[in-house]
Amino acid sequence: MCGIIGVTGTDGALDVIFEGLRRLEYRGYDSAGVALVDGATLWRRRAADGTHSVDDLVQTAGAAPGGATTGIGHTRWATHGGPTPENAHPHLDCTGQLALVHNGIIENHAELRVPLEGRGHVFRSQTDTEVLVHLVEEELAAGAGLAEALRRALGAVRGAFSVVVVSANEPDVVAAGRRSVPLLAAVGEGTGLVASDISALVGRAERYFALEDDQVAEVRPGSLRVVDLAGGPVEPTAVVVDPAWDVEAAQKAGFDDFMTKEIHEQPRAVADTLLDRRGPDGALVIDELRVPVDDLRAVDKVVVVACGSSYHAGMVAKYAIERWARLPAEVEIASELRYRDPVLHERTLVVGVSQSGETLDTLEALREARRSGAPTVIVSNVVHATMAREADGVLYTRAGPEVSVASTKCHLAQIVALDLLALVLAQWRGTMGPAAVGAELDRLQRLPALVEDALGRAKDVDAVADALAGARDYFFLGRHVGFPVALEGALKLKEISYLRAEGYPAGELKHGPLALVEPGVVVVAVLEPLQDKMRSNIAEAVARGATVVVVAPDGADVAGLGDHVLRVPRVDDPILAPVVTVVPLQLLAYALARRLGNDVDRPRNLAKTVTVE
Ligand code: AGP
Repeated sequence: MCGIIGVTGTDGALDVIFEGLRRLEYRGYDSAGVALVDGATLWRRRAADGTHSVDDLVQTAGAAPGGATTGIGHTRWATHGGPTPENAHPHLDCTGQLALVHNGIIENHAELRVPLEGRGHVFRSQTDTEVLVHLVEEELAAGAGLAEALRRALGAVRGAFSVVVVSANEPDVVAAGRRSVPLLAAVGEGTGLVASDISALVGRAERYFALEDDQVAEVRPGSLRVVDLAGGPVEPTAVVVDPAWDVEAAQKAGFDDFMTKEIHEQPRAVADTLLDRRGPDGALVIDELRVPVDDLRAVDKVVVVACGSSYHAGMVAKYAIERWARLPAEVEIASELRYRDPVLHERTLVVGVSQSGETLDTLEALREARRSGAPTVIVSNVVHATMAREADGVLYTRAGPEVSVASTKCHLAQIVALDLLALVLAQWRGTMGPAAVGAELDRLQRLPALVEDALGRAKDVDAVADALAGARDYFFLGRHVGFPVALEGALKLKEISYLRAEGYPAGELKHGPLALVEPGVVVVAVLEPLQDKMRSNIAEAVARGATVVVVAPDGADVAGLGDHVLRVPRVDDPILAPVVTVVPLQLLAYALARRLGNDVDRPRNLAKTVTVE
């Protein structure tokens, strides 16, 4: 997803912008651009079409104005208009004095464009964004200052945006506004910055702030002024930057790529998410959960909403919520929930799950739930994320920054966080006594060591990956909690290897997909739980000549079960097994993708944080 940085009062502004863009690269992008205020003019460079990386842009930037202290930069993930230099941001107005970058989608861009063209504005791109720069241009021509002009222009706009502008006529100002798309500001001694996320800002300032929806910021060297869309002054929301979220944390720490680094950080992510969850009496406590206990006791249904890997974590949670809290639990793809008529009310607990806390589909599903009066809780990895600010309650995964587009450590952390939520519901509803809750917490505490053990078996996975070279079709099968593990294994493989991979509940194979199973097809089967039933389903695949890989717990009898066996440590409670059984599937996807020479951190067509529908 697009990344934005704006700076003012900064010597070597271009270098700071380039460094910020590099730190934002993980969000995914297909073109990039920068603009600097150079005295009374603007200097701009953009790159796309094969010369799209920030490093390419650095190479092609050429001689930049030496003394510039104000500028903006952008990495673009194309939505409206292809990834061409003309569509890359920043966009300029008709005077060439104003430059603008944008993340999000302007829904009414077509209707805004017609009258603008009628008034003589010349459009040079196919983007939805360009209307913004011409709208601001008109407000400037009417006499407004830069931030005021942006505020007025945004009043005409429908959609989701974070937008940043600079003008050659106000060389010490960066103006920025947002709605539904994250934007942070930072102020230091004589400097001011804005960016799409904290990674681009850490270490550059002393004070950090999150802009809220429909706020406009005027950033000057050393100062920040924020107003709402009506022009009324507002106190910006201060953000406490976790010391762990520094530049160092965003480096690869000796690993070849972020994905393998993050896979190996999983024991820590799981352990940290479980940290400090017991009160003095041994009861489970989730400090940040904010929703009153009585409200949670009154809940009669839980609906989990999420996308992708977060959705799979939610599917695992369904089994825990139903078993432990004895509550009906539904798991919904976030982009589907908001467009039907979901039956949600004040006794429905709606739980959003999101690594980024910014995924627009999940954010809007949660907003829909709040409008229905349902209490909302978000499981988020990012403390200052929009969902974390808007939901009634929060449960933080403590996985640290996840850079690789393919989610790994956050997925595991989400599963254990949701297990904690299921347990706390069980505790308050009285469906589990203190001893049973305590015993389950003990089992959860043993997971980091088991994940470490599973990671120690990566060589077995490498050997299987070597044996599978050339295969292009994969089925991942599982039952019960093994089913979401199968879905996650298939998603990981698809994302980074670009191989065809489908996840299925194993019992469903014979109802259709078995027709596709033949020699050359690989079936990856997660044996736990319901081992006996899984054995029958595996036999169905073996009989059709598939190459079968079985993920089996230590001690399980695997005689005659398949061509390859990936052993995992046994987990005491099968409900918790996904935290361990998904590990070899992550490693397998990684190993196969590396053998194909793919960029595992930045798979094609995908973005880390998806802030469009
Ligand atoms: C996971 O590997 C994917 N990149 C993707 O499915 C992701 O889980 C999904 O986009 C949801 O993101 P979120 O957790 O940040 O909301």
